[in-house]
Amino acid sequence: MSAGRVRLGIAGLGRMGRVHAANAAGRCPSVELAAVFDPLAECAAEIAGRFGVPAAPSLEALLGEHGLDGVIIAAPTGEHAALSLQAIAAGCHVLCEKPISLEREPTLSVTEAAAKAKVKLQVGFNRRYDVANQAAAEARRSGELGEVYLFRSSQRDMSPPRPEFLSGSGGIFRDMGIHDFDAARFLVGEIIEVAAAGTVLSDPGFTAIGDYDTAVVTVRFANGALGLFDLTRVAGYGYDSTVEIMGAAGTVRVETPPLLNLEWRRPGAATRPLVSGYDQRYGAAFVAEVEAFAQAILEGSEPLATGADALRAFDLADAATRSALTGQPVRLGAGEA
Ligand SMILES: NC(=O)c1ccc[n+]([C@@H]2O[C@H](COP(=O)([O-])OP(=O)(O)OC[C@H]3O[C@@H](n4cnc5c(N)ncnc54)[C@H](O)[C@@H]3O)[C@@H](O)[C@H]2O)c1
Repeated sequence: MSAGRVRLGIAGLGRMGRVHAANAAGRCPSVELAAVFDPLAECAAEIAGRFGVPAAPSLEALLGEHGLDGVIIAAPTGEHAALSLQAIAAGCHVLCEKPISLEREPTLSVTEAAAKAKVKLQVGFNRRYDVANQAAAEARRSGELGEVYLFRSSQRDMSPPRPEFLSGSGGIFRDMGIHDFDAARFLVGEIIEVAAAGTVLSDPGFTAIGDYDTAVVTVRFANGALGLFDLTRVAGYGYDSTVEIMGAAGTVRVETPPLLNLEWRRPGAATRPLVSGYDQRYGAAFVAEVEAFAQAILEGSEPLATGADALRAFDLADAATRSALTGQPVRLGAGEA
């Protein structure tokens, strides 16, 4: 730690690691990017060169040789738990991308290890750091919406990620839906029942890996309210992530803002440029989550997206996966409110 800034390293420098590297290097006032690591040496050298920091040759070197306060884990999901445990054992605070694991036990182990070692464990639920979602959460918490009756959320990717990513992603519910399960808990409250269905219409490759390209989930909240999510990898028109909370006294909606505040007008038609990826829609939230991680380290406060949140969202996503396979709804214990 130097002059009120925390020294962060990044492990994994693909799509998401590059977003975090750019934010940690230049957009977060409480962060100093100290070093990066990726087993693909060329990739590590490229990002290290871009931001003027050392490329560590191994995770051990990243954790042990750069005076890190914390590390951002943005490796493939299957690697998260082992890397997080290694970082925790080295005394580093951890910001781990979602989900922590594709299994429950490692998710729990990471959460427990962080608590035992008294290091911060923050999870990459970036929507919690989005100002519009925070305003919607506050509208519900303050009672402005009255009793919540209905929650609706859409999450649509423009086109699917690479097949190698998809095959290790854990499926549409654990990889994508986990954001909606967490957002629903953040915005409304605990979920106690999940039912889900999925389909494949765009490419039989999804079926070959036991996944879906499009899915719907219905949930029941502890207060009796209902929720509905739609998820797709193949929206085609752009990236879209919207939520709506309908309550007795008011309704709040968070829409996907256009890419630019600009509209082209021609006779009979007006067009606005659409966002094409999560990095564009949640660009500011990704900056805010890394800055918030640093603040949690500096102030000793609890992160807004904790290991316990990751565990509950995992259980819900897992329940959706089972429900889609069996056609039966899955009831869960009340969990943490
Ligand atoms: N929060 C979000 O909205 C969001 C968006 C996209 C991806 N993600 C998550 O981020 C993670 C990474 O996804 P991605 O799309 O960047 O994947 P990616 O395949 O583009 O990048 C992964 C990188 O990790 C590296 N890597 C592999 N093994 C490693 C190891 N043992 N240690 C360190 N690095 C290793 C790879 O070489 C690669 O460069 C996934 O868990 C994914 O779920 C989150």
